[in-house]
Amino acid sequence: MRIGVLGTGGMAAALGGAWARAGHEVFVGGRDGAAAEALARRIGGAGHGTPARAAEYGEVALLAVPAGAAPALAEEHAAALAGRTVVDCTNPLAPGPDGVMLTTRAGESVAGRIQAAAPGAHVVKAFNLVHASVWDLPAGAFGETPPAVPFCADDAHAAERVAGLITAMGWSPMPAGGLDRAVYVEATAAFVIGVWWAGGSPRLAFPEPAHPSA
Ligand SMILES: NC(=O)c1ccc[n+]([C@@H]2O[C@H](COP(=O)([O-])OP(=O)(O)OC[C@H]3O[C@@H](n4cnc5c(N)ncnc54)[C@H](OP(=O)(O)O)[C@@H]3O)[C@@H](O)[C@H]2O)c1
Repeated sequence: MRIGVLGTGGMAAALGGAWARAGHEVFVGGRDGAAAEALARRIGGAGHGTPARAAEYGEVALLAVPAGAAPALAEEHAAALAGRTVVDCTNPLAPGPDGVMLTTRAGESVAGRIQAAAPGAHVVKAFNLVHASVWDLPAGAFGETPPAVPFCADDAHAAERVAGLITAMGWSPMPAGGLDRAVYVEATAAFVIGVWWAGGSPRLAFPEPAHPSA
């Protein structure tokens, strides 16, 4: 698959690198041309250039930029993104007096704002719940059961594409509803990162229920 990555930071490197290793053609688009070229070379990308070129490059575009910048970036490239699967991995978080806080308004998600800014795109919320360093771990690092990537999507074809990308990385796709549920995935990131920062291990908080229907 052809994937355009908008951004040249930690998540662009981690996800773009994992997808390139999985055999996908990854184009790195950055507003800093030298950074885009360096990252493309580092991950074995298929090319590099501007964010505009990344937006129009492939079946999939990844927005790997700060949450505060993502909706405006989507609006700027709305025409190019129309009809494409747009992966939103952003976390709208900021440090607050009592720990990590969401920067979105109640009931609002960045994914929803991106979708509103680029109405022709098929936005999928995914990959925001684990640290960038985790994507560099070799397949099998988690034992026999691969960890899951929850994703929220309205478009069935876009959901299928992202599920395929997740599987190609050796992880397990976890459908988490439509894009209106991205608000919960983003809030979960605030919880998880808050627990990490406090020195805890959030994964220990989710054992399977003894009686799932109760
Ligand atoms: N890092 C993680 O472990 C992690 C995990 C899960 C989710 N996330 C989320 O993933 C997103 C990216 O995180 P990151 O760690 O990759 O951030 P990062 O390392 O700070 O990289 C951000 C990238 O976005 C670019 N950028 C910023 N504003 C832009 C704009 N207006 N137009 C175009 N490009 C712009 C930056 O370009 P310049 O270099 O030119 O400034 C840089 O290439 C964030 O929303 C973050 O919350 C991160």
